[in-house]
Amino acid sequence: LGSLISKISPNFIRYASSARASGSSQRKVAVLGAGGGIGQPLSLLLKLSPLISDLSLYDIQHTKGVGADLSHIETRTKVRAYVGKNELSDALKGMDLVVIPAGVPRKPGMTRDDLFNTNATIVADLVSACAKNCPRAIIAIIANPVNSTVVIASEIMKAHNVYDEKKVIGVTTLDVVRAATFIAEAKGLDPAKVNIPVIGGHSGNTIIPLLSQTSPPVSFSQQELESLTTRIQNAGTEVVEAKAGAGSATLSMAHAGARFSFAVLEALSGKEGVVECGYIASRETEFSYFATPLLFGRNGVERSMGVGKLSDFEKKLIEKAKKELNGNIESGLTFAKQYL
Ligand code: NAD
Ligand code: LMR
Repeated sequence: LGSLISKISPNFIRYASSARASGSSQRKVAVLGAGGGIGQPLSLLLKLSPLISDLSLYDIQHTKGVGADLSHIETRTKVRAYVGKNELSDALKGMDLVVIPAGVPRKPGMTRDDLFNTNATIVADLVSACAKNCPRAIIAIIANPVNSTVVIASEIMKAHNVYDEKKVIGVTTLDVVRAATFIAEAKGLDPAKVNIPVIGGHSGNTIIPLLSQTSPPVSFSQQELESLTTRIQNAGTEVVEAKAGAGSATLSMAHAGARFSFAVLEALSGKEGVVECGYIASRETEFSYFATPLLFGRNGVERSMGVGKLSDFEKKLIEKAKKELNGNIESGLTFAKQYL
């Protein structure tokens, strides 16, 4: 049986077997908010990755149990659990990548912006600690409203004189994951083979899927363009309503967060041509922060791949996103000024 299991198990552990990493390319990763709905399954996926030597779990609750539980999994990734503010500095020292899903999720009837008052301070406190303890780490922000929390994080790093605009990124991968899934469903394709850039921001109107740039190329009727765009923009709300008060997307987000983290880590270790979308300080459009496909390298984001050739429909979507996205960026800047 032992030899049978050893033949089977690598295929089961897709994440663990998807890449072989040498010791020198293994990295240290912290998850802040590791006790939560996203934090726990995200930490599980990271624990399965050979790209990670050390996994640091931080939260104000639950991490000791989650850490003990994950530490029994037969991978080499070392898990350490930290709980409460007094342990935050230790959780962050030496990290290459810090992923932040800490913060409250939506309930039905709320917008992501309704989370601002609580989550802005949580993100600001956590990023201040990153500035002090791991100023060169890449910071991947999942906590909503992403359109504003990334701005806050960037301003805080600036205030500590450690800002590197290649390293503070909002995770919008879930929009890309959903877009691929919904397109594949509509067109009878394998979702794993569908690629589509999603640009703009991460809330309602500001989520802009570039259906005209779907790969493999697919053609859509005007009605399909409209219904797919609406579904992608409202997919978060679809989950919030289905969970009926018990939170928002956690499992698909854990997958998306892991996909984003593995892309960053592979590029840090020298893999070339790694591209994922992300929301970041940007010069691609009139917006000072904007999600585009990003080329990752040994130091974080090497460059934005731009927005490509837009259809008239997509240009109109950008126009429609203007007010909300600019407002979200402005709120982030105003909060940061008061906080600092
Ligand atoms: P959750 O409530 O299940 O978990 C949040 C965790 O954060 C909790 O364990 C809580 O203790 C912890 N936390 C709170 N304050 C903290 C602090 N100061 N330091 C460390 N940890 C702290 O929520 P969730 O479902 O995991 O969602 C987390 C966030 O992610 C929400 O803001 C949600 O809107 C957002 N989200 C973003 C995306 C995206 O695509 N970017 C997708 C889904 C959810
Ligand atoms: C999502 O897109 O699922 C997240 O941003 C959570 C939410 O509030 O919708």
